[in-house]
Amino acid sequence: MKIVFATNNLNKLKEVQALVPSEIELLSLADIGCKEDIPETSPTIEGNAKQKANYIKQYYGYDCFADDTGLEVQALKGAPGVYSARYAGESKDANANMDKLLSELSDTENREAQFKTVIALVLNDTLETCTGICKGEITKEKKGKGGFGYDPIFLPDGYTKTFAELPLSEKNKISHRGKAVQQLIDFLNR
Ligand code: IMP
Repeated sequence: MKIVFATNNLNKLKEVQALVPSEIELLSLADIGCKEDIPETSPTIEGNAKQKANYIKQYYGYDCFADDTGLEVQALKGAPGVYSARYAGESKDANANMDKLLSELSDTENREAQFKTVIALVLNDTLETCTGICKGEITKEKKGKGGFGYDPIFLPDGYTKTFAELPLSEKNKISHRGKAVQQLIDFLNR
């Protein structure tokens, strides 16, 4: 089965490709010639995922899934949330985003946070959503060189290493995206 994963993020493509069964062939946006920025104008993570998957179906005709992820920090009332990518500005700079978050939390003892991923799947004209949550806390400094985004400052519950210090295979087992992708796979296998 061929299905489009609506992303330009090669890290995510790699993560998800490692999780789906080999009989499911993932096509990237580049593979289908989609070069434009897909609109992400919803105020919710779920809304953005649905918007992206529907866009590909509507303009390119492919069955498709799209994900949207946000980091929700309890002491910041769920921020940066749906604005995680642009937290420190339009350049979507991961280091600047982490620096801003560490600075916002500098006087805060409550470091609880969670990553939330919603995957929207458009398959045979039906829309399904899968949600994965990974709880943890924000460290006081960056640790580790792996992963991407906020990984160096996210310590998953029950671990002494940040996402950026864990091997990808370990991160996939417990991550928000890993959990949402597992639901997606269960659905596709039904
Ligand atoms: P997106 O909407 O899924 O592209 O993600 C929004 C923001 O969350 C981006 O800044 C990403 O870098 C960040 N992000 C998404 N997934 C992860 C992850 O697994 N680890 C760390 N940061 C992530």
